[in-house]
Amino acid sequence: MHTDVNTLFDNLWQNYLTVTPSADKIHDLLGSTQKDDIINDHIALRTFNIEKVGLEKLAAHFLAIGYKECGEYHFEAKKLYAKHYEHSDPTQPKVFISELLVEKCSPELQAIVTDMVAQIDESAVTADNFLYSGTHWQVSTDTYKKLLAESEYAAWMSAWGYRANHFTVNINTLAKFDNIHDVNQALKDAGFALNTSGGEVKGSPEVLLEQSSTLADEYAVTFSDGDMRIPSCFYEFAIRYPKPDGEIYTGFVAASADKIFESTNARLL
Ligand code: NI
Repeated sequence: MHTDVNTLFDNLWQNYLTVTPSADKIHDLLGSTQKDDIINDHIALRTFNIEKVGLEKLAAHFLAIGYKECGEYHFEAKKLYAKHYEHSDPTQPKVFISELLVEKCSPELQAIVTDMVAQIDESAVTADNFLYSGTHWQVSTDTYKKLLAESEYAAWMSAWGYRANHFTVNINTLAKFDNIHDVNQALKDAGFALNTSGGEVKGSPEVLLEQSSTLADEYAVTFSDGDMRIPSCFYEFAIRYPKPDGEIYTGFVAASADKIFESTNARLL
């Protein structure tokens, strides 16, 4: 496991950029003259609740570099469970890790996922690069489509595996923007498509968090029977509000996160 928080995030970011070319352009659009002035509010990772690779196995990589467990979230319709983690340095991204509750899915999905996970080397899970190691298996386009029909989340994992599902710009710290509506307008003016599930803006000042996101880029995946272009990763934008005690809210809003998951849905043209 990495021992330096910046090294881990640099690797996650580079790996994310390889399949999310729009992220670099959005970085340029929202940042000021210096490229490094964007602070990430959080990143998100996905997995399955199978012991070998469960949420806690991913979390161990963050606990090892000073993160603490903070909140938990349930997404019943999508059959997901999630926790979020925070670092003592508030400029480090929060980490949102979700897992698919495999036993609640169909026997067919369970068999496919069990077979995928069985192909992961036990030692790979604690290796430095596990969180950006991609897939440890190769499924067919037919299997991908079968998973997609039941769980977009499972299908995304079958194609992309372990990597940051999204990075999130912290709007509070941007020099050029002070609200989410202007960020969304700038993105649309530049030709980026936003996730409109549940509205362009998820959440509100009343729940202390507003979020929006692009629709995932499309990128070619090499399946066992050929290449196919599918949604990869997306960029999210978050603005946080102070609690009654004056401290900025650092948690997540399940109803909003539920809609953000849909940013990797196939585009409806
Ligand atoms: Ni997010």
